[in-house]
Amino acid sequence: MKLINREISEYTESFTSEESKTLKELVQVSERELEYTDMLSGPQVGMLLKMLVQISGAKRILEIGTFTGYSAIWMADALSEDGTLITLEMNERYRDISRQFFEQEEYKTKIKQKMGNALEVIPALSGFFDLIFLDADKISYPTYYEMLKPKLKIGGLFVVDNVLWGGEVLRPSDVKSRAIHKLNKMIRDDNDVDQVMIPVRDGITIVRKK
Ligand SMILES: C[S@@+](CC[C@H](N)C(=O)[O-])C[C@H]1O[C@@H](n2cnc3c(N)ncnc32)[C@H](O)[C@@H]1O
Repeated sequence: MKLINREISEYTESFTSEESKTLKELVQVSERELEYTDMLSGPQVGMLLKMLVQISGAKRILEIGTFTGYSAIWMADALSEDGTLITLEMNERYRDISRQFFEQEEYKTKIKQKMGNALEVIPALSGFFDLIFLDADKISYPTYYEMLKPKLKIGGLFVVDNVLWGGEVLRPSDVKSRAIHKLNKMIRDDNDVDQVMIPVRDGITIVRKK
């Protein structure tokens, strides 16, 4: 299902701030090196994340699912000098692309990447996070919510990508759309949080822990 009319999508994107020079380069390198780059979250999600970091003043961020570093760079651009973003990834090919950008002067102290299965890495992370961006394997979305909610500080933001899964959540018929729909219901029924689901791109939910 095409969620948003193509022209509207192009129109809204054309009225959204442009990607930085570094982000444009990251997209180009990703497209050159990889067969598929549809996992890049795009400028609207990127700018939304950047604004959430700016508005909330988040200093400690956790991202589940780096891919080639696109959303991490958007968020890191809004982090203050003493802020940190930990991003989790298990694919070494994607890591090699993101590394070229994460090693640049402005990111090397802010962005820390941890490799491995996020389901195994998360329990070893200590402390609380001000903002968590979930964008990894969809089947594990409900498990991630259970694991990550205790690591989110009160007033912290939990942002989830692909909550509409191309519209499949309306009639979930496969394991991924069922898992995403399950997470959507978990968040809706959780009295500890406020949340808003917005149909930007493939659907984003912003959750705030009360
Ligand atoms: C949709 S992409 C992330 C896109 C990225 N946030 C962006 O906006 O450019 C999902 C990423 O999660 C990674 N991933 C999937 N399951 C994972 C797991 N269990 N542990 C760590 N990384 C995982 C995939 O390799 C992939 O790079």
